[in-house]
Order: sequence, then structure tokens, then C-alpha cells
Amino acid sequence: MLKNKGVNKMTENEWKLFLSPYEQAVSELKVKLKSIRQQYKENNLHTPIEFVTGRVKSVESIVTKTKVRKVNLNHIDSDLQDIAGLRIMCQFVEDIYEVVDLLRQRNDFKIVQERDYIANKKASGYRSYHLVIEYPVQLITGEKKILVEIQIRTLAMNFWATIEHSLNYKYQGEFPEEINTRLELTAEAAYLLDEEMSKIRDEIQEAQHLFTY
Ligand code: GTP
Ligand code: MG
Repeated sequence: MLKNKGVNKMTENEWKLFLSPYEQAVSELKVKLKSIRQQYKENNLHTPIEFVTGRVKSVESIVTKTKVRKVNLNHIDSDLQDIAGLRIMCQFVEDIYEVVDLLRQRNDFKIVQERDYIANKKASGYRSYHLVIEYPVQLITGEKKILVEIQIRTLAMNFWATIEHSLNYKYQGEFPEEINTRLELTAEAAYLLDEEMSKIRDEIQEAQHLFTY
């Protein structure tokens, strides 16, 4: 953390300097992940990446999270793993695992944490595959390793998570139990869509195979 100051005492310019390598990591990774999609397209292959988004956490959310989680102010960059965040959206659940395999093979960063919230969905109904990577950015002062959270999910998982998040934000997470139950059911409905789309794709591919040979 800058000069070991508390997050509350940091000036706008100090925040800008602190967040600058995170901005760099997010924009570099966006380019790299989009290039994976491009390469599949160029080879006329089904791309496991539909689209990629990225963001750096706002100062306001960083300050709130450090307070809620009682994060040591000197360790913000190691204790908050999602200051830099990337999201990869896929068409099919199988694509998610293909993307994870691709990322495991890379040598431009190191995976430091993996959480499969698809095999083990969260109590809310949330599903996604989470990776935390250690990404080296090259600064004029030398190399700095930045933690980046990558969430990989289908379009249906993203649809659910986006709306659930905005509802949660509006209601400040204080839903009545009945609403939680209904939201969990909508997550299951979204997952049924994913499963059905995969089945339909498999059947079409099988039919095409029979037709070609
Ligand atoms: P954080 O303190 O938020 O980092 O929680 P964590 O470290 O226990 O969980 P993890 O890092 O694996 O997941 C946190 C992120 O996943 C959040 O910032 C959200 O983007 C997403 N997420 C997790 N659970 C939910 C959920 O129930 N609903 C939605 N919409 N997103 C979720
Ligand atoms: Mg986290």
C-alpha cells in the first residue's frame, strides 16, 4: 500500500497511481483473451470464448470491502484478489472447461487459485468458474505481479448473475427467504437452458456426422 497510509487518507492522485498497474493488467489481458477468440475464428473453429469484459474495482468498493472484510491496509494488493477482474462469457458449459485448460497451459501468468462454482454452486444458486492469477506487468520501475480474478461463465450464468447482482444491490442483500428461494429456482432454470443447449448441439453434431459419412 502507498506509504502505508490508510485507504481513507489516500488522495485521488495516490489512488490513481496505486490502480494504474491494475488498469494495465486488465487491458493487456483483455487483448490476450480476445486474441484467443480471434484465432479460433480465423481457423473456422467453434470459439469457446463468446466475449470478454474487464474492470478495475472502484475506489469506493475497495474502501467498503476493506472495511467489511477488515483487510490489513498494508496488504490490500495481496488480500483483495479482485481489484482487477476479467469475465469470460461462453456459449456452452463445456466451453468453460476448454477455456480453463487453455489458461492452464499459458506461461504469461501463474494460476494461484481455482474455484469451480459450477460443480459446487453457491447457496444463492450462483454458478461460474473462478480463477485467480498472478499476472506480471512491466512498469518503468520494474516488474509488478498483480492478482487478477477471472470469472468464466456461460451466457445463461451471466444473465442470472447480472440480474441477481443488480436486485441484490437495490435490496442491499436483504431479501426475504421466499425471494431467495425463487432466485435459486431461476438459477436452476438458467442451468437447465445450458444443459438443453449442450444436448441439442450434441444431437445436431451427431446427425451431421451421420450425414457426412
Ligand atoms: P468475495 O469476498 O466477494 O471475494 O467472496 P469470496 O472470495 O468468498 O468468493 P469468490 O471470490 O469466489 O467470488 C466472489 C465474486 O463472485 C463476487 O465478487 C461476484 O462477482 C461473484 N459472486 C459470488 N457469489 C455470487 C452471487 O451469489 N451472486 C452474484 N451475482 N455474483 C456472485
Ligand atoms: Mg474473492
